[in-house]
Amino acid sequence: MRVDVVSIFPAYLDALELSLVGRAAHSGVIDLHVHDLRDFTHDRHRTVDDTPYGGGPGMVMSPVPWGEALDHVRAQVPDERPVLVIPTPSGRLFAQSTATAWSTDTWLVFACGRYEGIDSRVAEHYAQRADWAGVREVSIGDYVLAGGEAAVLVIVEAIARLLPGVLGNEESVRDDSFATGAMSDLLEGPVYTKPPEWRGLDVPDVLLSGHHGQIAQWREERSRERTADMRPDLGAS
Ligand code: ADE
Repeated sequence: MRVDVVSIFPAYLDALELSLVGRAAHSGVIDLHVHDLRDFTHDRHRTVDDTPYGGGPGMVMSPVPWGEALDHVRAQVPDERPVLVIPTPSGRLFAQSTATAWSTDTWLVFACGRYEGIDSRVAEHYAQRADWAGVREVSIGDYVLAGGEAAVLVIVEAIARLLPGVLGNEESVRDDSFATGAMSDLLEGPVYTKPPEWRGLDVPDVLLSGHHGQIAQWREERSRERTADMRPDLGAS
């Protein structure tokens, strides 16, 4: 999967070089490219924003550098159509199901907005472009960040760990909180490792018993309890 990120803070995306996503990038599973939006300005101050039409507080990102930056990114792979992803608190909610659906895309281009957002004609324009595969405006949750960069870190990590060969343990994906399958809509229950006793707290006996059926049943019960406690909205009975 090719991933391009356009931002006025390209260093923010340095975290994508680390850990699981970094390994995916270094192994070639993800082909990562980060771009500085200001490289597509032409004035002395490298201006990317302006006052909002109709008035109101804050600044809006100009469509002009965005158009140049996105056309530049698009031209890097003539035979492939990218999806434009715009993180915004006014987008559709990004969930595990979204990560799963997007994990089969071949090229995602992320446009990180700052200030009051990107001029809405950018999303409108790229949605009409036959050489792009669509525009997806997504929110990672019901809170307002200062920009899309942190959302991109979240979204790319959620997708990267689903790509074949990235985790090295396909089962840990299957049993995740929010993964679909036998445990769909349940949170993961408690987990333990050695030592068997720590500061007066024992690992539950059943986990040391070797009875796989009982262990599976115990885990499902704990999952249901935790889901009812933490996330009653998920409707675990
Ligand atoms: N930009 C600002 N807030 C955001 C959010 N909640 N999700 C995605 N992008 C954002």
